[in-house]
Amino acid sequence: MSFQPTYKNVLVRKEDGITTVTLNRPEKRNAMSPELEEEMLDCILNLEADDETLVLVLTGAGKAWCAGMDLDLFFRELEGNPANAAKHVRAEWAGHQWKWHRLYNFPKPTIAMVNGYCFGGAFTQLVACDFAIAADSAVFGLSEVNWGVIPGGLVSKAMNIAVNYRDALYYSITGKPFKGPEAARMGLINESVPDERLHDEVMNLARHLAAMNPETLRATKQAVKATRDMTVDQAHEYLIAKNGQLAFRDPEGGYKQGISKFIDAKAYRPGYEPYPREKAEGA
Ligand code: ACO
Repeated sequence: MSFQPTYKNVLVRKEDGITTVTLNRPEKRNAMSPELEEEMLDCILNLEADDETLVLVLTGAGKAWCAGMDLDLFFRELEGNPANAAKHVRAEWAGHQWKWHRLYNFPKPTIAMVNGYCFGGAFTQLVACDFAIAADSAVFGLSEVNWGVIPGGLVSKAMNIAVNYRDALYYSITGKPFKGPEAARMGLINESVPDERLHDEVMNLARHLAAMNPETLRATKQAVKATRDMTVDQAHEYLIAKNGQLAFRDPEGGYKQGISKFIDAKAYRPGYEPYPREKAEGA
């Protein structure tokens, strides 16, 4: 069923299988308030099940991608305030769920389109996305130390996953800001592009992904992410089982189509491009 929501802090736009989710508090640089956390959790859960969404793009309104947690509404108003204890727990849970668990395991490809400021807590959803492309002028920063806290939530862990030890420590401890090209140099993002090219570059990637076999993409991203924390033997066993699961789940039989169209029909070269798809009945 088609998902067409109306939220206060989040915009959802769908076009040709590509769903763009925009954090929409530009006047507060898209800082994450408790209300935004709840709306994003609802949004991501619905998009997981939304047939019209083949690829998810996450971006921000105005000049920020996301300025991290809302220090006023999230921390000052909720943290340590007994009257708001339950609200605090709930907002934290919603934030953790959408920024990491739901997004990291989202069943379709996800792209962070980093249009501007990206600070602190926003690194969690940045790393959770499968791809990240930023504008050259985007400013990143682990600013937590600048106001007396550690990169908490899951930010320190996300940095350890995404970048090397030296860069993780350097930017976490100094709190110094850096721009798109430096984020690309350390592997925090895939690519930094001139500001005016950002939208087109992201959409080119999104269209490429939207045209591919969705079951193969789902299984592949799960395979890469799940094996990070496995032993070699566990990973070997898991990947055999995962391939079996993919063959069973894939309604268009990508494996058979892929081989046959290369070996028999000579219709494409897998080294260069995905097989030309024929959808199964009802798929
Ligand atoms: N929490 C709450 N309000 C925020 C946040 C935030 N994280 N970021 C920006 N705002 C608000 C400002 O208070 C201001 O509100 P006001 O207009 O009511 O005064 C408005 O957004 C605009 O902010 P400015 O500072 O005026 O905008 P500018 O474009 O000059 O600077 C910048 C943007 C660099 C993002 C600056 O606002 C900033 O440093 N924000 C804090 C970034 C940060 O450290 N985030 C927390 C990370 S740690 C964590 O997430 C756990």
